[in-house]
Amino acid sequence: MKLWGGRFEKATDHSVDDFHSSISFDQRLAEQDILGSIAHATMLGEQNIIPKADADQITSALALMLEEARAGKLTFSVDAEDIHMNMETILTERIGEAGKRLHTGRSRNDQVALDVRIYAKTAIEDAKNNLRALIDALLSIAKDNLVTVMPGYTHLQKAQPITLAHHMMAWIEMLLRDIERLNGAYERADSMPLGSGALAGTTYPLNRDRVRELLGFAKITNNSLDGVADRDFLLEYLSAASISMMHLSRFCEEVILWASAEFQFIELDDGFSTGSSIMPQKKNPDVAELIRGKTGRVYGDLMALLTAMKGLPLAYNKDMQEDKEAFFDAHDNWMKCLTTFTGMMKTARFRAEKMARSAEGGFTNATDAADYLVKKGLPFREAHEVVGKLVLHCIKENKALLDLTLAELKEFSPLFAEDVYEAISILTCVKERNIPGGPAPEAVKAAIANAEEHLARL
Ligand code: ARG
Repeated sequence: MKLWGGRFEKATDHSVDDFHSSISFDQRLAEQDILGSIAHATMLGEQNIIPKADADQITSALALMLEEARAGKLTFSVDAEDIHMNMETILTERIGEAGKRLHTGRSRNDQVALDVRIYAKTAIEDAKNNLRALIDALLSIAKDNLVTVMPGYTHLQKAQPITLAHHMMAWIEMLLRDIERLNGAYERADSMPLGSGALAGTTYPLNRDRVRELLGFAKITNNSLDGVADRDFLLEYLSAASISMMHLSRFCEEVILWASAEFQFIELDDGFSTGSSIMPQKKNPDVAELIRGKTGRVYGDLMALLTAMKGLPLAYNKDMQEDKEAFFDAHDNWMKCLTTFTGMMKTARFRAEKMARSAEGGFTNATDAADYLVKKGLPFREAHEVVGKLVLHCIKENKALLDLTLAELKEFSPLFAEDVYEAISILTCVKERNIPGGPAPEAVKAAIANAEEHLARL
């Protein structure tokens, strides 16, 4: 018989049992469910809502169940529908009468809200740790490549020279914001909902603050309806996951380009590449591609929960049971992507010589040539025009700006002098951009120090 079977005359149709049972996926909340119940029972005993002896019996039985759950030794049944009723059933089978008092002043609605919040807090910590590990790996690439010049791009066309360090720091800034977003989600998840009951609180004198304290939450939820109906914290987690996956996906797109014969900026380690079953020469960036692919899946999880929530009247509705699979799927995939990506970046080899050669082509120093003329007194708009003509000339002659003789340069502007070669050398172009946030090695060194400090505070 169902734990809620009292008012029913017929058994649930078997197809419905199967359909609405969540045990196949919410058994992942086994530990969280038991921890919540231990805190609830402890408080019930302290408040004399249930006999102290019963509370003790419940908490010691639950402590044993916790160990068994951690060891994967508890078995669950679809008949008991979900993790909450499975746990109560097991408990009551073991200790009888006392077990039946556990659910006093509680509903599965506030219970599931609690379990998911506890899980979300740990998931957020995991995500932060994995992001930190990736940031550390990228910081070390940045530190090793302060003067590794490479072309910077806009529209995927060579634009201006930068350094590999500067490029890595751009990704690090994004990942630091990913952690900040998680901190926001954590703050919202860190609110203890027990005491909300099914929707309207309870008549028992529960000590909500004591349960909060026992479970290590920062605060209690403010409204019993909201306490059971709110899944914003999961949506925030999924949004943070989606944005971070978008970052990873963009980064992967670059890795894929950079690993191509056309770029040759990066050589992926054999351990993080795959071959072709037909083409013997192939070494494919499958890991990066799969991360790019999984990004769509994580977006899908966010969309699934946003859509599930959008039409729900207050308070709890069974639709909300759909939150868990989306959340777990996004979490598992994001974590796998982060750790695999970190491994791939840690073992990748950057081809500084190819990057430098590439930066020399494509007129990445054209802006600097114009700036050179500006410093000699020409208005920028005219300087832009002069250098544009120079570039057109070079394209026709198949030359770089630095290949032109001074006599050739002077045909375009008499302001050109011998010092132009130094002024528009690629390394100078980078070093001169010594502005906070810029690519000059000094500026990047400061950015690295700032990022490290920022990371330590997150
Ligand atoms: N398995 C349910 C869920 O995940 C637990 C809450 C069920 N509450 C209810 N009134 N049916 O949402």
